[in-house]
Amino acid sequence: MDQERDFDLILQGSTGFTGHLAAEELALHAPDSLRWAVAGRDSSRVRALAQRFGVPAIVADGLDKHAVAHLAQRTRVVLSCAGPFSVFGTPLVEACVEHGTHYADLTGELPWIGELVVAHHQRCVEQGTTLIPASGFDSVPADLAVHAMRQQLDQDAPLHGFFTIRGGLNGGTLHSGIALAEQDRLPTSNSSARSTPAVFKVPLLKRWATPFLMAAVNESVVARSDRLLSKKHGGDVSETKRKRSLHTPYEEHMLVRGRLRAMQMKWLLQASTGMLRSAFGRKLLRRFGPKPGEGPSESSIRNGFARFIVVAGDLEKPLAMRRWDWDGDPSNRITVRCLVQTGLALVAGEATSGGVLTPASALGDTLLQRLVDVGAVKEKPCP
Ligand SMILES: NC(=O)c1ccc[n+]([C@@H]2O[C@H](COP(=O)([O-])OP(=O)(O)OC[C@H]3O[C@@H](n4cnc5c(N)ncnc54)[C@H](OP(=O)(O)O)[C@@H]3O)[C@@H](O)[C@H]2O)c1
Repeated sequence: MDQERDFDLILQGSTGFTGHLAAEELALHAPDSLRWAVAGRDSSRVRALAQRFGVPAIVADGLDKHAVAHLAQRTRVVLSCAGPFSVFGTPLVEACVEHGTHYADLTGELPWIGELVVAHHQRCVEQGTTLIPASGFDSVPADLAVHAMRQQLDQDAPLHGFFTIRGGLNGGTLHSGIALAEQDRLPTSNSSARSTPAVFKVPLLKRWATPFLMAAVNESVVARSDRLLSKKHGGDVSETKRKRSLHTPYEEHMLVRGRLRAMQMKWLLQASTGMLRSAFGRKLLRRFGPKPGEGPSESSIRNGFARFIVVAGDLEKPLAMRRWDWDGDPSNRITVRCLVQTGLALVAGEATSGGVLTPASALGDTLLQRLVDVGAVKEKPCP
């Protein structure tokens, strides 16, 4: 470990809803030797949290360039839960690139990730600094599962991912959606490019498929993993395999019990997107939705889950099918476990290269194994 820096890992945004859960997760799973600290903009709340975990406190407003530069200089790895990232996150990423500090966060804000790639990827490749945005529920479970499936297949095949989830909504997530809508940058679904209708029966799984809220983010992250991994292994794998991973699509859906439920979920998603797109809708969501810093109850976090099934090839005659069951609610328990294990993997030097990367292209099997080892996910036989 690089003893020249004061810390191995600093958790920024630690006073937020996911931030304090991430601090708890670190306290539970960090090796004794890990030198870590909690950080945030509100001095008294960061200090209270630091005292609770017996670690140092660092006060840094994400918009204060000097403060985040000092933070990034002092540690080998930064984990950030300080979102909306397109509003508060850029100076910290710039500081991490400047000081060669590895970084991971919880963003699902695609346009912002795109900006990071354009601004920093090449430099990070050259200097060996690894940045992994989207290290929470979006997009670790989908990205790692698709990666595992692609490795198993020895032929060209399109993939479908199906999520079944239970959990609540965080104020931070709602307000990140509002921030994207205000910048007119909400993802739009390109339904004509998909091989399936929005709602369809999946006899194989005895369920109905309906649009999934996070599909646009996960599909984009998976597509980038395919491009990055195909480049990385360009010299090692066969031409067929390279073509496969570059050109076979991945489509993501949510699974529900019946047609009526599937239609209801589709309308609900359309209605929420419509509300986010209108100024009046956003006013209502601000007023009546969860506020920043709020999130689901402890029992909702504990009793939540996500099941992810990935099917290769024709949905009626699949080539292969795998299922992973994740413990806890997607927005919080799964998210912080993914983020913390990503951070610990970066501290342990497990990233295979530098760049603005995806979970699978940076850490792949190693991260999946870590998550299995801490009981976050189990592979199960398919139904
Ligand atoms: N990838 C996923 O699956 C996933 C899941 C859940 C959440 N998220 C995302 O993660 C982010 C956090 O979610 P959350 O539920 O934890 O939200 P939250 O409770 O509102 O927390 C936001 C955090 O950002 C901090 N912050 C805000 N402005 C800041 C600034 N100028 N400088 C430094 N810190 C600042 C807040 O500090 P204060 O405490 O001082 O206000 C707080 O710690 C959101 O963007 C959300 O969309 C992603």
